[in-house]
Amino acid sequence: MSTPKRQLKLGAVTMGVGGPGAHYQWLDQEIPGDASVNVNWYIEQARLAEAAKFDLIFIVDSQFITADSPPHYLNRLEPMTLLSALAVSTTHLGLVATMTTSYNDPFNVARRLASLELISGGRSGWNVVTSGDAGAAANFSRQEHFDYDTRYARGLEFVRVAQGLWDSYEADAFPRDRATRTFLDVSRQHALNHNGEHFQVAGPLNVSRSPQGQPVIFQAGDSEQGRDLGAAIGEGIFTHAASIEQGHAFYADLKARAIAKGREPDHIVVMPGVRVFVGDTDAEAREIEREIQLSDQDFDRALAELGRPFAWHDFRQYDLDAPFPQEALVYAERGFRTQAENIARTAKDNDFSLRQTAQLISSPKPTPFAGAPETVASEIQRWFDARALDGLNIHIGRPSQWRRFLTEVVPILQDRGVFRTEYESTTLRGNLGLPIPENRYTKSRQEAGLLKI
Ligand SMILES: Cc1cc2nc3c(=O)[nH]c(=O)nc-3n(C[C@H](O)[C@H](O)[C@H](O)COP(=O)(O)O)c2cc1C
Repeated sequence: MSTPKRQLKLGAVTMGVGGPGAHYQWLDQEIPGDASVNVNWYIEQARLAEAAKFDLIFIVDSQFITADSPPHYLNRLEPMTLLSALAVSTTHLGLVATMTTSYNDPFNVARRLASLELISGGRSGWNVVTSGDAGAAANFSRQEHFDYDTRYARGLEFVRVAQGLWDSYEADAFPRDRATRTFLDVSRQHALNHNGEHFQVAGPLNVSRSPQGQPVIFQAGDSEQGRDLGAAIGEGIFTHAASIEQGHAFYADLKARAIAKGREPDHIVVMPGVRVFVGDTDAEAREIEREIQLSDQDFDRALAELGRPFAWHDFRQYDLDAPFPQEALVYAERGFRTQAENIARTAKDNDFSLRQTAQLISSPKPTPFAGAPETVASEIQRWFDARALDGLNIHIGRPSQWRRFLTEVVPILQDRGVFRTEYESTTLRGNLGLPIPENRYTKSRQEAGLLKI
C-alpha cells in the first residue's frame, strides 16, 4: 500500500471589518460596513473558499471588549450561530469555531459542536482557547480570570470531558426499527460519570455520533502550557510564523512534544495564519502590501491596543519618551502573558521607549508571502517542503487581494500537485487526512472479542 502524497492544507480566516492592527480595513469600498455581523458576507467568503477547495474557514472569537478594541471585535457574530448558517450554505468546507474552556461548560460546548457535526455532515472543528482577555471574568460572574496553570489544566480536562461525551452513543445506537418498535439500543448508550478536579459531568450527551466520529480539535497557544496542551489534544495547530526558521522551530517543537506523548505527528496539522499580497510583479506586490499596511497604521490606536495583552492596561498614562514601563508586565499575569513578555523583552533588548515600542508594533512588516503569483506559490511550497508548516490560514483582508490569491496562486499550487483539485472527502477529517477517533466503548467490546464481525 503506498502512502498518500503529503498535501498542503488551506484555511480562511475572516475578520470582516478589521482585526488587530487593521484599524481601517473597513474603509475598503468592497467591504460592507457591517461585514462582521452580515451573514451574507460570510456566506460569500465561505463559498469562495469552497470553490477554491479550501479545507476550512476559521472563526476567531473573544468575550471582552473596550472602546479601543479593533473594529471586528466591537461587533461580530457568535461563531457557532454563524457556522450553523455556513453549514447549510456549503457542502465540503470545514467549519472551525473558537470557543473558550474558561467561560463555558463541557456539556454545552460538546452539545453545540455535536449538533454542528450533524448539521454539516461531519465538517466541524473547535479551536480550543483558554482566553487571554482577563476582563472576560467580569462578564461571567467571576472576580478574576484563572491563572495560567489553572487555565490550561482546566482546558485539558474540559476537552477530555467533551471527547468522553461525544462517545455517549456508539455508531449503531439508534436502530429506529419500526417493526420491533426499537428506537434506541440501550446497550449502545453510555454515561460518562466524570468526576475530575474542575468538572463533574454525568452524561450521556443527547446527540448521536457524527460521520467523522468527533469534531476536529484545533488549538493555538504559544506558552509552555499552551504548546503542551496543543501536543496533547490538538489535531490542528493555529500559530503565527514570521520566518521559515521560526516556523520550522515551532513545528519541530510541537511535533516532538506530541511524539513524547505517544502521538502520531502526521495526525497533527500545523497551520500558521498569514497575510498574503499578490501583484503582477514582486515589486508591485510589495507596493500593494506597503500601501495597505500604511493605510491601516494609526499610532494612537496602536498605543491603545498595546494594552490588550496586558489585560487592557492603559499605556496612554505614561511618558511616551521614557523607557517602556516593564512594570506593566504584572497586568499580563492573567492576560496574554506570552505576547506581553515578547513585547517587553523586545523593548528591553533594544532600549526602546514606549513610543518606539508602540511604533514597532504598528509599523509595516513585510510578510514572507508577497510577490507575483509564482513567487507566492514558490514561497508557500518552500515552507511546506521544509516542514515549517502543513497548511496555511489565509487572512481574507482586502477582497481584491483575497480574489487574487484564489484565482492566481491556488491554481499554481494545484498545477504543481501541492494542493488538491477536488475534495477527497465530505468530512473535515477526511480532507485533513486525520483518522476517525474510535468510539471507546465499541473499541473495548471489539478488544474483548465480544463483537461479531
Ligand atoms: C493563530 C492564533 C489564533 C488565536 N485565536 C484566538 C481566538 O480566536 N480567541 C482567543 O481567545 N485566543 C486566541 N488565540 C490565543 C491563544 O489561544 C492563547 O490564549 C494566547 O495565545 C495566550 O496563551 P499563550 O500564552 O499560551 O499563547 C490565538 C492564538 C493564535 C496563535
